[in-house]
Amino acid sequence: MDTNQNPNNTQKRSVGRSSNSAYLDPHYWDERFSKEEHYEWLKDYSRFRHLIQAHINPNSSVLELGCGNSQLSEDLYKDGITKITCTDLSAVAVQNMQKRLLSKGLKEIKVQEADMLDLPFSNESFDVVIEKGAMDALFVDSDPWNPKPSTVIKVMKMLKGVHRVLKPDGIFISISFGQPHHRSHLYDAPEFTWSVKWNTFGDEFHYFFYILRKGNRSSDSDGTSKKLESK
Ligand SMILES: C[S@@+](CC[C@H](N)C(=O)[O-])C[C@H]1O[C@@H](n2cnc3c(N)ncnc32)[C@H](O)[C@@H]1O
Repeated sequence: MDTNQNPNNTQKRSVGRSSNSAYLDPHYWDERFSKEEHYEWLKDYSRFRHLIQAHINPNSSVLELGCGNSQLSEDLYKDGITKITCTDLSAVAVQNMQKRLLSKGLKEIKVQEADMLDLPFSNESFDVVIEKGAMDALFVDSDPWNPKPSTVIKVMKMLKGVHRVLKPDGIFISISFGQPHHRSHLYDAPEFTWSVKWNTFGDEFHYFFYILRKGNRSSDSDGTSKKLESK
């Protein structure tokens, strides 16, 4: 799933892995983050900033899942979005992120260890939940056309938690290389009240920017996601 094509990474592909399944192992991430300062999965903020800005405003409370050592939270902060809680399962990622943000004077950004499959937050507590590449990590040992039941269980656990912590009209932004025909049937599960729309960004390779707005599913929804007009 290593699809990063950003030449500006400070350290690239520095930590080895024997197979994609390693991405499911928390020890892999701890070890990786103990050696790696910054790695931006998929693309950096500058490439999808225009899509984010259409959906987040400075008053939005934002929960980031699986932040790793990405600069997404600080880029959002620099754009005036200051109510951010940045989370990851990896204690090493969280410690490093705390240090990095403090060293840059960004102490308003909260950083917390959290399992995105079991979110330790109250119901309806965020305007926006965002993840980049974190959900993709759940799919690494599955055929995208026919994901394993264990993968579907994990993804649904994550989606139910995200839906629960979103405010009634909150949005889930999922930035992914997972294509709509592989993801829509999960996002569109009947228990969710969100509408599902998506856009693409990137040049040579297209990444997907999903926007799931809670409470916005139309009663005549045919359960299929819609592509937004290109910008
Ligand atoms: C592919 S990396 C993406 C990192 C970052 N979002 C980025 O865009 O560069 C996946 C991240 O998800 C984290 N992760 C994996 N499983 C997780 C879980 N169950 N809960 C929270 N974070 C998890 C990993 O520690 C890692 O930081």
